Formats: sequence, structure tokens, C-alpha cells
Amino acid sequence: MRKIFLTIAVMFCFISTSLAAEFAAIKLPPPDMKGGKPLMQCLKDRKTDRSFSTKKLPVEVLSNLLWAAAGINRPDSGKRTAPSAKNWQDVAVYVAMADGLYLYNAKTHSLDPVLKADLRGETTHFLQPSRSSIEAAPLQLIYVADYSKMTIATSAENKLLYSGADSAFIAQNVYLYCASEGLATGIRAMLDKTGLAKDMKLRDQQKVVFAQAVGYPE
Ligand SMILES: Cc1cc2nc3c(=O)[nH]c(=O)nc-3n(C[C@H](O)[C@H](O)[C@H](O)COP(=O)(O)O)c2cc1C
Repeated sequence: MRKIFLTIAVMFCFISTSLAAEFAAIKLPPPDMKGGKPLMQCLKDRKTDRSFSTKKLPVEVLSNLLWAAAGINRPDSGKRTAPSAKNWQDVAVYVAMADGLYLYNAKTHSLDPVLKADLRGETTHFLQPSRSSIEAAPLQLIYVADYSKMTIATSAENKLLYSGADSAFIAQNVYLYCASEGLATGIRAMLDKTGLAKDMKLRDQQKVVFAQAVGYPE
């Protein structure tokens, strides 16, 4: 009898370890800060796309994309590639992929696992044109503002304004990186923010601002 219990316990440990291993943090390689097209060419090519190939992005591209979006570019101060009001760094970049939802951790330049569920389909609205083509993208960035970080912006109007501006700076960095690399991207404000916040298990003070698809052109 003891032997059976022992075998079951060992099997249980093995299964839970392999399940945990499946959905672990993704350590990103250091970003390549030397590459890319000249800025004027990126501005010339920047555009919104609404159709994507299902092809996944290599981890090197993911690393460069997230660093461009909101990485630390001044390690002494911990400041980022995108500005934020009062340096609140109130906007977190969540990454929805087929295998789960991750949170970009700029300090460790890695993706921290949040939920083992594919939420890409929850980032579009039923009225969104080209909905299914957008959902084909391997990656949906979800910008989430943490209102509790905006310590002196007391009015709801200011919180909305600052979180919108801070998210838009990140989004534009993504647009320019994608233009530089020949990737497709498109930002969306039209999405079921309340439903998505619920699916992401966000706190009350965390607000979904925009979603932005990234992938290869179809
Ligand atoms: C704040 C903001 C919200 C947007 N929301 C959506 C959206 O919900 N759905 C969509 O298809 N495009 C959305 N867009 C993309 C715009 O439609 C697009 O930027 C505009 O048509 C101009 O095209 P361009 O980006 O290629 O210059 C949004 C853009 C911004 C700046």
C-alpha cells in the first residue's frame, strides 16, 4: 500500500513539474540596439495593418520589439524608451500569445507568466472590421494602466488622459519598430475592456487602454 502511495506521489510531482515547466518565464536575449532602418524611412513606412500571418515571431524579434516598446534605455535611472507622465511608468505591457498571457518585465527583460490561456481572441470587438484576420496575429500587446501609480492625478479625467498618452507613446514605439523590421501592426481602442480585464484577472485600479496586434504581414 505504501509503495502505491509513494508511486502516486512521485507521479503527481512529475506531472506538476512538467506542467509548470510548460508555462514558465521567458528570458529574452539582450536587445540588438544597433539594427534597424533609418528613422525617416520608418516614419515613411509606418501604418496600421489589419491582416496578419499566423507565423510566430522568433524570440530575438520579441526581445527587440518589447525593448523598443517599453524597455529600460537608461539603466542608471531605470527610465524607459517611452516617456510617462511624472515617470510613473503606469502602463504595463501584457503579451497575449497562443500559449498564454505574459507580462513584460523591463527590469529583467523577460516575460513573466500570468495566465495559461489564449486571450488573443478576447482583444477584438465584435464590431471590429477584419476581426478574424487580426486575431490570426501571433501576438497581441495589451496596454494596461495602473491608476494606483498615478499618485497626484486625482481626477478621473487626468487619469484617463495620462494613461492614454503613456500608452500611445509605447504604441508608437511599436509602430516604428515594426516599420523598421517589415512587421505588421495595428492599434485598437475598440475592444471589450471590461470583459478583457475580467479574463486577465486585473485589479480594480488596473485599466485596459489599448490592444495592438503584431505579426508578419499576411
Ligand atoms: C487611439 C487609437 C485608437 C484606434 N482604434 C482602432 C480600433 O479600435 N480598430 C481599428 O481597426 N483601428 C484603430 N485605430 C487605427 C486607426 O484607424 C488608424 O490609425 C487610422 O485609420 C490611420 O491609419 P494609419 O495608422 O495607417 O495611418 C486606432 C488608432 C488610434 C490612434
